Amino acid sequence: MPVIAVVGAQWGDEGKGKVVDTLAAHADVVVRYNGGNNAGHTIQNEHGTFALHLLPSGIFHPAAQCVIGPGVVVNPEVLLAEVEEVERVGMPTVGRLWLDERAHLIFPHHIVMDELEEAARGGAPHGTTKQGIWPVYSDKAARIGIRLGDLLEEAHLVEQLTFIAARKSALFTGVYRHEALDAPRLLAMAARWAERLRPYIADTHPLIQEALRADRMILLEGQLGVMRDLDWGLYPYVTSSTTLPGGASSGAGIPPYRITRVLGVAKAYTTAVGSGPMPTELEDDTGARIRELGAEYGATTRRPRRCGWFDGVAARFAAEVAGFTQLAVMKLDIFDTFETIKIAAAYRLGGRTIHSVPHTAAMARVEPVYEELAGWRVPTQRARRLTDLPVEARLFLRRIEEIVDVPIAMVGVGPGRQDVIFTQEGFP
Ligand code: GDP
Ligand code: IMO
Ligand code: MG
Repeated sequence: MPVIAVVGAQWGDEGKGKVVDTLAAHADVVVRYNGGNNAGHTIQNEHGTFALHLLPSGIFHPAAQCVIGPGVVVNPEVLLAEVEEVERVGMPTVGRLWLDERAHLIFPHHIVMDELEEAARGGAPHGTTKQGIWPVYSDKAARIGIRLGDLLEEAHLVEQLTFIAARKSALFTGVYRHEALDAPRLLAMAARWAERLRPYIADTHPLIQEALRADRMILLEGQLGVMRDLDWGLYPYVTSSTTLPGGASSGAGIPPYRITRVLGVAKAYTTAVGSGPMPTELEDDTGARIRELGAEYGATTRRPRRCGWFDGVAARFAAEVAGFTQLAVMKLDIFDTFETIKIAAAYRLGGRTIHSVPHTAAMARVEPVYEELAGWRVPTQRARRLTDLPVEARLFLRRIEEIVDVPIAMVGVGPGRQDVIFTQEGFP
C-alpha cells in the first residue's frame, strides 16, 4: 500500500485538508508532520465545515489512526478545543488520536514573543500568524523546549520549567519590558494539560513501524507550502519548520525510501498570507474577483489572502525540490466564469528570462512572463471524470502539467469531499 506525503506546492492554503480528508477514506494512518496551529486546513463533509489547526485531516474517518508526529508543535488549548469539536459530531478520539511524546509544546510566552517581535518590526512585519511558531521552534533548536512526554515526568518538568521561567523572565523584563514569567502558574498549566492529554500522549514509533511492516496505507499531511519552507522558501518570509517531504520523513518517523508518493497540492491560481514576494499577485479587480469567488480569507487569522495567477515557475521549483510524483490541482471551479486565464511560465529578471526561484531580494523584482489561455465559462463542480470537463479546462490543466513537469492525479472542482476528479488509473 502506498505511503503518500501530501505537500503544499505554493505558499500554503492549497487545499491540503480537503485532499487528505478525501484520500483518508482509504488510509489506515494519517500523520501531521510539521508546523502547529498556524495551519488552517478546511474540510467540508457530511459532518459540517471545519478548519482544523492541529488534528490530522483524517480525523473524520473513524477507521484511520491519527498521529501528531514529533515534527509538530502543539498548543494544548487549541488541540483540546478541536478534540471537543470533532467529538461533538460523533468522531471518537480516544484510542485513535496519538500525540507523539517528542512533539514540543507551545506555551503562552511563545505567543507573546511572536506578537512582541512582530510589533517591534513596525511597518515591516513578517506577517506571522502570531501563534508562537518561531519561538517554540527556536527553543527546540536551543534545546530548552518542553515536550509532550515531559508533561508525564513531573520531577523533570518542574526542573525544566523553573529554569526556563527564570531565563525567559530576564529576557521578558529586560529586553521586552514585559512582565516576568510566573513559574507556579506555568506548572499549574502543565499539570492541567498533563491530566487532559494523558490518554493521547504516546511513543508513536511502534504504531508507525507496525503500519509499515503490515504494508498499510499511510498519509503524511504537511502544513504550509514549499515557498514558506525554512530552507527553500522565501526566507525570512517563511515558517520555522520543513514543509518538504524530508520533513515528512523526520517529522513522522518514516524512512525516506518508504515514502512511495509525494503529492504536491496546488491551487489553479496562487494565494499567500503574510509578507514577502509573490510575483503573480494581482492588486486589481481580477485579484479581488479571485478572492471573492474563492473565499480567500485565512482559516486561522481571517486575513484576506493575496491572490494572483498560477505561478508555474514557483510550482516547478517546488516540484523539483520536493520531488512531486503527482500533482493535485484544486479550485479549478473558481475560474468557471473567467473569459481568459493566465499562467506564469517564466520570470524576467534584469533583462534575462529565468525559470527558477531566485534569492528573495531578487524574487521581489522579477516580472512574470504570462501565457493567456481561454476560459470555459461553464460550471465544473459536477464533473467526476476528466472527460466531463470542457476542452478549455483540460487544456489549462495540460499546460500546468507541462510547465510543472509532473502528472496531475487529482483535480478539485468544489469544496466538498466528493468534488474531485481522480485522473490516474490506480491512484491513490
Ligand atoms: P490548506 O491549508 O492547504 O488545507 O487549505 P485551506 O483549507 O486553508 O484553504 C483551501 C480552501 O479552499 C478551503 O476553504 C477549502 O474548503 C477550499 N477548497 C479546497 N478545494 C477546493 C476546490 O476544489 N474547489 C473549491 N471551490 N474550494 C476548494
Ligand atoms: P496552512 O497549513 C498560509 C504564513 C504566515 C507568514 C508565514 C510565517 O493552512 O497552509 P508563522 O506563523 O508560521 O511563523 O508564519 O507563514 N503561514 C501560512 N500561510 N497557510 C498556512 O498554513 C500558514 N501558516 C503560516 O502568514 O507569512
Ligand atoms: Mg490553510
